[in-house]
Amino acid sequence: MALSLRCCCCTILFLSSFSSFIFLYWSYFSVGCRAGMQIAVDEVKQELNLLTFPAAWNLLLFPNEEPPRFLKIALFVKKWPQWHRAGGLERHALTLHHALAKRGHELHVFTSSSTNLSSIKNLYFHLSKPTAAGYLDQAIVWEQFIVENSTGRHFDVIHSESVGLMHTRSRNLTNLAVSWHGIAYESIHSDIIQELLRDPQVAQTSILSERVSKVVEEIKFFPRYAHHVATSDHVGDILKRIYMLPEERVHIILNGVDEEIFKPEASKGEEFKSKFGIQESKSLILGMAGRLVKDKGHPLIFEALRQIFNESSTFRDSVIVLVAGDGPWGARYKDLGSSLHVLGPLEHAELAGFYNAIDVFVNPTLRAQGLDHTLLEAMLVGKPLMATKLASITGSVIVSKDIGYTFSPSVEALKKALYEVWKDGRGVLEQKGRSARKRALQLFTATKMAAAYERLFLCIAEKREDSNPYCTYKT
Ligand SMILES: *[C@@H]1O[C@H](CO)[C@@H](O)[C@H](O)[C@H]1NC(C)=O
Ligand SMILES: *[C@@H]1O[C@H](CO)[C@@H](O)[C@H](O)[C@H]1NC(C)=O
Ligand SMILES: *[C@@H]1O[C@H](CO)[C@@H](O)[C@H](O)[C@H]1NC(C)=O
Ligand SMILES: *[C@@H]1O[C@H](CO)[C@@H](O)[C@H](O)[C@H]1NC(C)=O
Repeated sequence: MALSLRCCCCTILFLSSFSSFIFLYWSYFSVGCRAGMQIAVDEVKQELNLLTFPAAWNLLLFPNEEPPRFLKIALFVKKWPQWHRAGGLERHALTLHHALAKRGHELHVFTSSSTNLSSIKNLYFHLSKPTAAGYLDQAIVWEQFIVENSTGRHFDVIHSESVGLMHTRSRNLTNLAVSWHGIAYESIHSDIIQELLRDPQVAQTSILSERVSKVVEEIKFFPRYAHHVATSDHVGDILKRIYMLPEERVHIILNGVDEEIFKPEASKGEEFKSKFGIQESKSLILGMAGRLVKDKGHPLIFEALRQIFNESSTFRDSVIVLVAGDGPWGARYKDLGSSLHVLGPLEHAELAGFYNAIDVFVNPTLRAQGLDHTLLEAMLVGKPLMATKLASITGSVIVSKDIGYTFSPSVEALKKALYEVWKDGRGVLEQKGRSARKRALQLFTATKMAAAYERLFLCIAEKREDSNPYCTYKT
């Protein structure tokens, strides 16, 4: 059978970074383009079972129309945070469930007490006191859940952000999905990096050997969750191969961030620069954002910058480093002199100004767990990245040199990357920034993430097993 492909030239560039398999699917599914092309697609199935789709759902196109049915969704999340305090997991919860509530679904959030809950339509909170260890009190949240489930409409689907709902309770729930924001197997990479960077004066910890037991423990209890969402391609692979979960229960949905807030706006960047007194004469602005702690690689970049500033006064005088966020390393950075500004924590909207003001976003994180939202925010604003060579980052985000630079977590490698960025200069960086935004618009918007989750939830909420339309992907 021959199928007319209304294929679009603009997607080709983007697609070339994926395997030919994905390319085939993509070519098949991309619509709305001009050039006519005839390709025999005998080998491509007309329909695709979403539950066994091997790559990120973000690659697929979901229609933007009203949902075919409105779901009642239970969400279990440890904390419901405020924006500027939110870590990765909480940000994911906030972005995703605000979007789903806005689409008309009824969200019930089971979480521990929070100081300020915004009143958003369709979003209902069930609060409880956390346990001493900081987890949700499982007995209490379960009781709240059962009450809500038996009064009026019952829940269509249950979502747990990591172990928000523990495996002891998740066992018999076939309509449950858990999103993992860091699993023990990924943490082993972080542990190895920390051990390699350990000051010989500091005693070795037992974390390295303990972590392996933790992995085994996870492999044993993960099957008690019906469906698993991996937030990177790498984690999807680990869940299927090392955690041995069946393919049809592992789904890759990459994180997304709010594309209405994070977008190119030169005026916002200029405003930001004048507010913080950044000199226009500087030829290159490097930006970092997040918690200023050891885990995020601040000791490493501190040392790399210290050495470079000493080696090259030209570098020091032409470059400015902006650091948004707070934490123990904020004070240390003052030692690096006037080429580095610590800005403190920024509000959500200010953060968009920050990304617009910089030329390249630097994230030297040593944490292999999860997928850092800051990378996606910078990409949506149209900035190239410079980040640690961690599998989630190289596999899902900086997939080529077009998006940015990667380095091994050592002072030497980081210095080399910094010099390379400096040598490339603004012109090259702007070009990479455009590629970064193109990729981010395709994959990393909150809208795309919410659409993929909505489809997954519709699919697993459906009781009919024989002909479930939501688990099937059609052109
Ligand atoms: C909660 O936060 C919103 C927006 O951040 C603010 O307008 C509101 O006054 C706050 N409410 C309370 C009770 O602090
Ligand atoms: C929620 O309510 C529905 C309908 O009454 C019931 O079938 C389902 O088992 C309940 N869920 C749980 C976890 O109790
Ligand atoms: C799950 O179902 C089994 C068998 O029906 C039952 O023995 C077990 O107590 C249930 N577990 C939970 C957590 O409800
Ligand atoms: C700075 O570089 C010089 C050589 O160029 C070296 O002698 C000196 O020790 C360095 N200082 C620091 C603080 O690294």
